[in-house]
Amino acid sequence: MSLDDPVVVPTLAPEREAALATQLEPEPQGGGLPSRFACFVTGTDTEIGKTLVSSAMLHALVQAGVRACGMKPVAAGAEKRSGVWHNDDCDQLTAAGNVTLPQNLTTPFLLRRAAAPHIAAELEDQYISPVPILAAYLEVSAASDAVVVEGVGGFRVPLNESFDTADLAEQLDLPVVLVVGMRLGCISHALLTVEAIAQRNLMLAGWIANEVDPDMRFIDENIEALEQRIRAPLLGRVPRLDEPSAAAAATFLDFTRLPNWPAHTPI
Ligand SMILES: Nc1ncnc2c1ncn2[C@@H]1O[C@H](COP(=O)(O)OP(=O)(O)OP(=O)(O)O)[C@@H](O)[C@H]1O
Ligand SMILES: [Mg+2]
Repeated sequence: MSLDDPVVVPTLAPEREAALATQLEPEPQGGGLPSRFACFVTGTDTEIGKTLVSSAMLHALVQAGVRACGMKPVAAGAEKRSGVWHNDDCDQLTAAGNVTLPQNLTTPFLLRRAAAPHIAAELEDQYISPVPILAAYLEVSAASDAVVVEGVGGFRVPLNESFDTADLAEQLDLPVVLVVGMRLGCISHALLTVEAIAQRNLMLAGWIANEVDPDMRFIDENIEALEQRIRAPLLGRVPRLDEPSAAAAATFLDFTRLPNWPAHTPI
């Protein structure tokens, strides 16, 4: 071939060209990508059903066919069994999800004493700071399609001298789901929590009325009062269950109104 010969540009058969063009086109929005769901579950108090609702949510996510993992970043109260420290909440969340990860990722701060976290931490020479929690959250999130993060106690539980669970929700920047433990006094607790969530510019994605007190009077009226004042959907009423379990609680809850809740594709 001499330098004077014309340059021949190779051409592709039209059908091959069309096939290549399709490969280069961006995926249609949402096409083939697993949905990503995450939320922060808080409550009006301690012992009002956050773990039950978080587990019900994980159960529903697993039913929808996604890889779901629970996180309890700070847990206080643990006992040693077969050489391993166990916390009830962590065990329930693990049992309800379907992604098993090392406990130091799902619970970066596992405190032995059942006390306010900043007090338990001090007694155990630990210092709860956001960085290990945020790093763990990223890893858990990378390994799962859906993450449910359970808070500790109510919304403003101190974790160190200048950082509390509301700050944690803010740093994680997750939509918040509020569990209202239905008992006398819960209206004010719920509305103060709603206010604190709004003050941090977090999204209150929904709330749940959990009937923890079987003897509560005027429960319908209380729920109605909350519905009138909370501008987020009521995701359901969980009655007092004889045998509380994730599956049982899930039958009373409709999570489909939560942002990015996966479309139902049972396994
Ligand atoms: N609707 C219900 N019916 C029956 N029992 C319930 C109901 N909701 C919660 N419980 C029970 O009340 C106890 C406290 O619930 P749960 O552990 O979910 O609360 P929590 O808010 O996560 O508490 P903590 O602040 O310790 O994390 C558990 O024994 C749970 O099984
Ligand atoms: Mg709990």
